[in-house]
Amino acid sequence: MKASITTNAKFQIAPIDDRIYGSFLEHLGRAIYEGIYEPGHPSSNEQGFRTDVLDIIRDLQVPVIRYPGGNYVSAFKWEDSVGPRELRPKRLDLAWRTIETNQFGIAEFHDWCQQAKAAYMMAINLGSRGIEDARNLLEYCNDNSGAAWGDLRKQHGYQEPFNIRMWCLGNEMDGPWQVGHKTAYEYGRLANETAKTYRKFDEDLELIVCGSSNDKMATYPEWEAEVLDQSYESVDYISLHKYWNNYSRDTLNYLASHYELDEYIGTVRSVIQYIKAKKRARNDVYICFDEWNPWYHTNKRDHELLQTWDWPEAPHLFEDPYNLEDALLVGTVINSFIRNADIVKIACMAQLINVIAPISTEKSGSVWKQTIFYPYYLASKYGRGTALQIQVNSPTYDCKIRDQASYLDTSVVLNEERQEISVFCVNKHPDQALHAEIALENLSKLSGLEHICLTCSDRYMTNTVQQPNRVVPQSLEPPKVRQIQSIVSLPALSFNVLRYRYQG
Ligand code: AHR
Repeated sequence: MKASITTNAKFQIAPIDDRIYGSFLEHLGRAIYEGIYEPGHPSSNEQGFRTDVLDIIRDLQVPVIRYPGGNYVSAFKWEDSVGPRELRPKRLDLAWRTIETNQFGIAEFHDWCQQAKAAYMMAINLGSRGIEDARNLLEYCNDNSGAAWGDLRKQHGYQEPFNIRMWCLGNEMDGPWQVGHKTAYEYGRLANETAKTYRKFDEDLELIVCGSSNDKMATYPEWEAEVLDQSYESVDYISLHKYWNNYSRDTLNYLASHYELDEYIGTVRSVIQYIKAKKRARNDVYICFDEWNPWYHTNKRDHELLQTWDWPEAPHLFEDPYNLEDALLVGTVINSFIRNADIVKIACMAQLINVIAPISTEKSGSVWKQTIFYPYYLASKYGRGTALQIQVNSPTYDCKIRDQASYLDTSVVLNEERQEISVFCVNKHPDQALHAEIALENLSKLSGLEHICLTCSDRYMTNTVQQPNRVVPQSLEPPKVRQIQSIVSLPALSFNVLRYRYQG
């Protein structure tokens, strides 16, 4: 089957904000405990941080990590998680029906982020708590003036402020499952007043207001309109979340999910523009897509399970074993973020370790990479620069999500600093290769550097702790180039990175 991709170095969408390759860590299951923090593990440093995990995260170049939740944050009392460990109380975590020991808290996460070379994005509790506690937390983290909360941090051994720049004003406040769930009006007012309070301390903070938990919520997209109506001029981003599933084992439909994602982003883009116009506002608001991933292999089972258990500590929860088609879905999601680089400025794969995650650990044992690690890794490595416009011609198929879905999903990134161009392609066809003719216009002296391909003959194949390398990227023959044209073969059900160099 034949397809074509045309792009032009001068037809630019926008610079890609590196933070679209962000991630998320919640006090949930074994994300923190046994994930990043495991005192006594052979690889752990004196702070109890697993260095085998840190090495992978540094290699992944995760620019930003959201913490500490998630649903967890909506009943989180941050004061429990600071100061001498022996004085920290154990608490019931109402979101996941577990015991939280608070042995890892907001200051440890600061240290860990520094070692991971990632920026700290803090979510605050606007569920069970309000402005006063949120303001105290901000001062604890960022103040250096000699006032009480900043001084408490110093007493706890942190002379220098954490200087956290990104703050999420709550989490999924549209969700009836959330502790402190609110109507759009109630939440929009609270978020606005919290944002105004934060700006009195530091007007340059980056503030993120909660959008919808997903595009199937009954309140979507009116939620976005009302929340922004209340808060538009006080915030910088609106957050969106979405998790995908393939319960019906309909591969082609699953891999067409990015059309719904494009529509979700497009709708929220329009709501932002509408509110901006309505308010005659000068500021721009962007999208922070701060939770996204496939989530279904363990979702129903574990949600039922946690209703039955007796408040365990750091249980195995939502440890999805991801397969090849999940990795392809991840490739299409990242393509969508790149194509929408002018509005999506931050995105966080949810989550990073063990819980619906690209990286898995064994207690006292090894660390290994899930299939979904690879498109994320390759995009983080080669997807930095400027997003280019593309024209794609591809054979199509009809599915539940839409008619005439393209077998080929693509994004293109120009990196002027390195004089490189990367073409990311997902071939969704279940059994046929796509022979794609790629035209890279307005670039001189092009040469093919590399064709990296992730595929497997079994679309349900996973990596496991015993066999961690069953689905891993392969290097294929580098793309051949004649002037601006290159013809490449994209295997059936594959994620591909085609890398080129140019001069001048
Ligand atoms: O990432 C898992 C959970 O999914 C988060 O806690 C919540 O925000 C979302 O519903």
